[in-house]
Amino acid sequence: MSNQKVVLITEASSGVRQSTAQLLSQRGYKVFGTSRNPASAETIPTVEMLALDVRADDSVAACVKAVSSQVGQLDVLVNNAGYELAGALEELSLDEAKTQFETNFFGVVRMVKAVLPLMRQHKHGQIINISSLSSLTPIPFMGLYSASKFALEGYTEALRLEVQPFNLKVSLIEAGFLKTPMMDKRQVAAERIPRWLLCAPTFIKFMYRFWLENEIWFTFPNEMYRLP
Ligand SMILES: NC(=O)c1ccc[n+]([C@@H]2O[C@H](COP(=O)([O-])OP(=O)(O)OC[C@H]3O[C@@H](n4cnc5c(N)ncnc54)[C@H](OP(=O)(O)O)[C@@H]3O)[C@@H](O)[C@H]2O)c1
Repeated sequence: MSNQKVVLITEASSGVRQSTAQLLSQRGYKVFGTSRNPASAETIPTVEMLALDVRADDSVAACVKAVSSQVGQLDVLVNNAGYELAGALEELSLDEAKTQFETNFFGVVRMVKAVLPLMRQHKHGQIINISSLSSLTPIPFMGLYSASKFALEGYTEALRLEVQPFNLKVSLIEAGFLKTPMMDKRQVAAERIPRWLLCAPTFIKFMYRFWLENEIWFTFPNEMYRLP
């Protein structure tokens, strides 16, 4: 095994991943980032971009194989890929719900299954799953996003215990609000039921309390500052 640590970060073309990838490569790690479309992704010098769609078994297998055949080891997997789905639970269709879980939850499950053989073989490795504060306090009108992160919490806890005998470590990051492009890419229920729009004041009141009670920090990936 090489002394240079190897990290694979799912999606390194924007937001949390881009900053993490830059920081790790500055600190001497060999960093593989991913994008659904590496040809058009913003390039980060020293970060090698691979194609990956976490919803597709083949894509996940090819991505992990590319790392394994190139460097023969994987020290850290950071499961970042995810998106927000907004809408009242009554408005969201089953298809929308399944698609949300397909990325935020099963995407992680796929990645973990793909990397474990390599990590177990070396009896060494760390998996870091990016969750959210909304997995501790579910956010109304973001119920399915919260549910996908709740599922990730349970999965991560079980995984942490299962892989201990192989000297593998598992962590979960329950991130607060981060200033990333995520909100711009938020998906909204296709069907809108006007009655739910009238609940906006309740939602605003909830969010205000949520911010106060959790002492939410709005963060840039590289810096933190408190709301005035
Ligand atoms: N921003 C926040 O306030 C916040 C708070 C708590 C937790 N988080 C979590 O932090 C993680 C990173 O989010 P971010 O804030 O950095 O947002 P972001 O910039 O939107 O990054 C999310 C990335 O996931 C990728 N992605 C979506 N579906 C994918 C798929 N099927 N296969 C591969 N990649 C896919 C997106 O790629 P495309 O560009 O191709 O869509 C996008 O680059 C997420 O898991 C999110 O739930 C964010």
